[in-house]
Amino acid sequence: MGVRVTTGRTLLAAVMGFGVALSAQAAEYPAIGPLPQLKINNAKAELGKRLFFDKRLSGDAAVSCATCHVPDKGYASKEALSPGYPGNGHFRNASSLINVAHKKVWNWDGRIGTNLNDMTREMLTEDYTMNMDMRIMQERMKQDPVYVQMFKDAGYGEPSNGSVRKAIPEYMKTLTSANSPFDKGKMSASANNGMKLFKGKAGCIQCHNGPLLTDQKAHNTGVPENFDVFLDPMNHQAFIAFTMFQGIPNYMNLKRDPGYYNITLLDEDMGKFVTPSLRELKYSAP
Ligand code: HEC
Ligand code: HEC
Repeated sequence: MGVRVTTGRTLLAAVMGFGVALSAQAAEYPAIGPLPQLKINNAKAELGKRLFFDKRLSGDAAVSCATCHVPDKGYASKEALSPGYPGNGHFRNASSLINVAHKKVWNWDGRIGTNLNDMTREMLTEDYTMNMDMRIMQERMKQDPVYVQMFKDAGYGEPSNGSVRKAIPEYMKTLTSANSPFDKGKMSASANNGMKLFKGKAGCIQCHNGPLLTDQKAHNTGVPENFDVFLDPMNHQAFIAFTMFQGIPNYMNLKRDPGYYNITLLDEDMGKFVTPSLRELKYSAP
């Protein structure tokens, strides 16, 4: 299990609920602005891209990363609930991967706080996402002369599961927003007015701040539960597999996504989720 996220208790207390602290000054929050440039190794990123779209990375060669993180949907899933590995549904939305390399905390409950290598391993190996045995994955790569050459060109030597978990994150680094009117400081007048509201009266900045427009902390915003998780046995079995593995008490009877409770097991964290980035939102559904 990855490094657990620590809670900014005081900040959390201060920003819980939309009604509180509406007069707070935007200046108190990390500045909104362009994202820093990431250094990218092209050969590694090219390899990572081929892997990202390759269904052979899943147990029965039926799904790739792109099945759930759909490029023309902002690298998110089209549906409210993500597809799952064949024979399963899923119980959450597949997050957008745009700017994902700039984050410090991943997943809706923030359960991975280390790096994208760990995140990639989780996606590959969980039985309800790609259900891949990484030893088999490595052998599949070795049987493809194109991969053999690409791993070599990328400086990894022979294909190995460790380098798959490095190359895919290198590709994810290329999914960074730049050159939007926002990044160039050339927003329209109405967009500028919206930004004023966002920072001021509407209070969005309390949680959606910094270049990613997220504080990367967990909050309860009262979004209603999606009961398709519990009504569809395909989704529910993925939910049960997840909550059982995570050690959530009473998981068989649970009828809500525990969210951040998964990290702390404190009742007050039930149903809290990490603030999503609002960048490139118009491209991701729903
Ligand atoms: C079967 C669907 C599915 C597949 C295949 C899949 N993902 Fe995901 N991915 C999800 C879902 C659903 C989440 C949200 C999980 C959660 O919050 O618990 C997610 C979350 C993520 C995140 C965290 C995003 C964030 O901002 O917190 C990353 C990174 C990611 N996936 C990368 C990948 C990569 C790389 C692959 C391929 C190796 C992959 N995913 C394959 C469904 C999928
Ligand atoms: C208390 C912290 C907080 C405040 C204040 C807040 N948000 Fe959010 N926002 C969140 C969290 C957490 C989520 C994810 C909720 C969930 O899925 O359960 C979210 C989700 C969203 C989403 C959906 C994004 C997606 O990818 O699905 C949008 C859009 C959004 N917020 C915009 C706003 C706007 C506009 C404001 C100001 C009017 C605002 N938020 C104020 C924390 C906050």
